[in-house]
Amino acid sequence: MYRWHLFNTVLCISLLLLLSQSVMAQPKFIGNVKCASCHKVEFASWELSAHGKAFNILKPGKRKVAKRLADLDPEKDYTHEKKCMKCHVTGYRKKGGFKSIEATPEMAGVGCESCHGPGGEYKTLHEENLYGFKKNQAEPLGQLYGEDDESVCRACHGHEDAPHNESLDPKYKYDWKASLKKQDTYHAKKRGRSQFSF
Ligand code: HEC
Ligand code: HEC
Ligand code: HEC
Ligand code: HEC
Repeated sequence: MYRWHLFNTVLCISLLLLLSQSVMAQPKFIGNVKCASCHKVEFASWELSAHGKAFNILKPGKRKVAKRLADLDPEKDYTHEKKCMKCHVTGYRKKGGFKSIEATPEMAGVGCESCHGPGGEYKTLHEENLYGFKKNQAEPLGQLYGEDDESVCRACHGHEDAPHNESLDPKYKYDWKASLKKQDTYHAKKRGRSQFSF
């Protein structure tokens, strides 16, 4: 009897630990504006980029030809369509992420944290290391490096859930290396040693 209790207690504690770990594992999304306070150049160019505007193409009347090609209705409003959200907004249904265009308009579009990871924890590292830090310091805090890790971009590109993928038309075949070079689709780079810009 006593042993059975002990076993249950240990089981409960392990489950709680597992649960708290999985909650802690995903830092909070903080939004583009928080990054913009230091990364002005990237933010200003991102706003005008394809990723920055990726939510707008879900609106009726936008990209009619491409929508028809994918058997989507060009006159339909897809801005509340759950199955479109995970790739056209930032942090869908995650802590601090996009809920709806009414509740969280600032999280619409493919934002900084879609590619660099939710900033809740690594933001402090950036704040405290104005002259730079190492990737191996940032990664444990949830920062992602899409330039080294294809899976960051492939969360959306070439994904089977995307209506516009290779099986629809070969022009949608995803080439990660080539796509990285299309810098104007995400943002301009700040020149010089420090990206830090007041
Ligand atoms: C798994 C991720 C994913 C999902 C889910 C997704 N998209 Fe996209 N969407 C993308 C990516 C990536 C592109 C860019 C493809 C390219 O240009 O190579 C894209 C591009 C588009 C385009 C522009 C295509 C063009 O050629 O101009 C439209 C329109 C679009 N998506 C609408 C939708 C709609 C509507 C839904 C929901 C029914 C949806 N998407 C769901 C990832 C996704
Ligand atoms: C579609 C993915 C994507 C989005 C969205 C994105 N980035 Fe980036 N970013 C990258 C990639 C890839 C690199 C590394 C490659 C490079 O430096 O050209 C990078 C590099 C950077 C760098 C270091 C290089 C430099 O000097 O600019 C900073 C800082 C940065 N991003 C900030 C931001 C901020 C702030 C936002 C939002 C306003 C943002 N990024 C949105 C993909 C993205
Ligand atoms: C959260 C989903 C998401 C992530 C992550 C993402 N993208 Fe995109 N990307 C999109 C969507 C949606 C579009 C379509 C925008 C449009 O057609 O206006 C797009 C468009 C593009 C385009 C222009 C279309 C094309 O294929 O030539 C390039 C290039 C691109 N992304 C590169 C990247 C790279 C590089 C990364 C990783 C560093 C990345 N993306 C990460 C969703 C994403
Ligand atoms: C308090 C200012 C500040 C804030 C806020 C901030 N950063 Fe940074 N960030 C920096 C500094 C400083 C560096 C290092 C500059 C250098 O390397 O010289 C940096 C570097 C980067 C890099 C370069 C890659 C690397 O790891 O060295 C990326 C990408 C980046 N930041 C993205 C973001 C994103 C995304 C956000 C929002 C979630 C953000 N930053 C918020 C100050 C900030």
